[in-house]
Amino acid sequence: MNFKEKIKKIIEYYEGNKDLTLLPVLNFIQKEEGYISREKIKEISEILEIKEKRIIETISFYHFLNTEKKAPILYLCTNISCFLNGADEILKYLTENKDKLNFDFKECECIGLCDYAPAGLFDFKPLKKLTVKKIEELNEEIRKTFNKE
Ligand code: FES
Repeated sequence: MNFKEKIKKIIEYYEGNKDLTLLPVLNFIQKEEGYISREKIKEISEILEIKEKRIIETISFYHFLNTEKKAPILYLCTNISCFLNGADEILKYLTENKDKLNFDFKECECIGLCDYAPAGLFDFKPLKKLTVKKIEELNEEIRKTFNKE
C-alpha cells in the first residue's frame, strides 16, 4: 500500500472528516519515516485541504512529531504512578550518564501505561516496568544498531 492509498484509508476510517484525520496521518508518517518532511507537509496539505501553516503548528505542538530526522528519543513518564515506582531513579541514571547514552531522552506526562510503571516510549514502542538495567540494555542495543564506538 503506497502513501496516498494509506492516507485514503485513514480518511475513510474517519468518515471523510479531514480535521480528525490530520493527527493520525501525521502519526503514520512519523512512524513510517521517522519525521515529517516539507514535501510530506505539502502533500498532506493538498490531500486534506488544510493549510501548511496549520499542519506545522500541529507538528510543533506534539512532542512525538518532528520535522527533522532525529535519533530515537526515550520518553520517560515521570507522573505520579511512574514516579512512585522508580522513574526518579531512572531519570537520575539518565541524567548522570547522559554522555554515555546513544539516544536522547525527555520526561513526559502519563502515557497510559500506569499499570506497568515506571513506563516510557522509545521510537513509539512501549517500555514497561523500566529499570536501570533495562536502560543499559537498550543503550547497548542502540550502540550495536548504529555501530557506535
Ligand atoms: S503515570 Fe506513568 S504511564 Fe501513567
